[in-house]
Amino acid sequence: MLFANVMKTILVTGGCGFIGSNFIRLLCAESEWHIVNLDKLTYAGNLENLAGLPKNRVRFVRGDICDQVLIGKILKEEKPWAVLNFAAESHVDRSILDADPFLHTNVGGVLALLEAVRANPVDRFLHISTDEVYGDKEGKSPSTEESPLLPSSPYAATKAAADLVCFSYQRTHGLPIMITRSSNNYGPYQFPEKLVPLLIRNGVNGLDLPVYGDGKQIREWLYVEDNCRAIFDVLTKGKVGSIYNIGTGEERANLDVVHAICEAIAERCSTDSKQIRERIRSVTDRPGHDRRYAIDSSKIRTEIGWQPRTDFASGLYRTVEWYVSHADWVAHVTSGEYRNYYEAVYDRAWGKGMRNTF
Ligand code: NAD
Ligand code: TYD
Repeated sequence: MLFANVMKTILVTGGCGFIGSNFIRLLCAESEWHIVNLDKLTYAGNLENLAGLPKNRVRFVRGDICDQVLIGKILKEEKPWAVLNFAAESHVDRSILDADPFLHTNVGGVLALLEAVRANPVDRFLHISTDEVYGDKEGKSPSTEESPLLPSSPYAATKAAADLVCFSYQRTHGLPIMITRSSNNYGPYQFPEKLVPLLIRNGVNGLDLPVYGDGKQIREWLYVEDNCRAIFDVLTKGKVGSIYNIGTGEERANLDVVHAICEAIAERCSTDSKQIRERIRSVTDRPGHDRRYAIDSSKIRTEIGWQPRTDFASGLYRTVEWYVSHADWVAHVTSGEYRNYYEAVYDRAWGKGMRNTF
């Protein structure tokens, strides 16, 4: 990695979540950097995700990105070269149940971070955004970085708002903003409320496999480690003031992803995939559900030279392998509040429970 041998301190927010923890693990393995990790430890944040990393490399601070005073204190103490904002409320379905925490963290938190950085300048402010800001691409060409922002869900709307606030701070206050917008990630340490880890957990444990609506919605799948390498490359080689889409072109209908998960579990656990497939159920569709996401990621490939290393089949098998061999982690993160959430989405709020249509 370019820059990897140069000692730098960075402030990462949301480093106890899925992508943030994978990013910190990658940096610990492949650089000498010192990382300060600010995380509120919501239901999605888990210190176990960073277990085994050297304490002298990663300083953990429990706190909220909305707490401008705390962020200012960290910036004064650590004088980081860059701030990377991974922290967010990240799940579309939760934003349908209650959008309030999304406004608070995804917009208010970004504003607090920007204000703190305005008072304590850094060389780079890299904000992690999403392809969902471009909205539904059914029947349309993949989004470039110049495509209009047309978010559909409350989650995507707060992410789009944050992107606009970030660039307003670049133009108005001269902050060194960079933004990445990646497609759907999958891989180790993802909280089992998103499609891939939820279906692996249910598949392995003999539970039903819920598919929203007709299952023909399309997502573009990116292995998390590839996203982390792209984020590092943007940080070290990208242009300040730029947006970079990060995608693979590996578009898959949800039902095809579910079938692939069944096959991978069967292979890993030496069972019959037919028995797992029999548990696939159509459930009431997500309100406002985007049919397709698709991004054009030629800019990061030509300007920076990044490209994904992991194809979907091998990434999915590695992911199934990780979840099967980390059953304690899965059991831990799904104890407590998880049951209420599961009922709210799959039984109560969207009302009709599991049907047997596939
Ligand atoms: P995640 O939900 O797994 O983790 C979010 C982390 O942020 C958790 O550790 C949580 O404790 C922390 N956090 C939440 N609110 C906070 C607050 N107010 N202050 C401090 N910490 C707080 O999310 P993820 O999947 O790792 O996503 C990381 C980023 O990437 C998000 O900004 C998300 O919008 C974006 N993104 C995710 C995907 C994906 O497929 N997961 C795709 C594109 C973009
Ligand atoms: P998700 O992982 O929540 O990511 P996003 O909504 O941000 O793309 O969902 C991916 C796709 O899978 C999306 O079209 C919704 C669908 N889905 C299901 O069909 N069943 C499920 O249980 C979940 C969680 C998602």
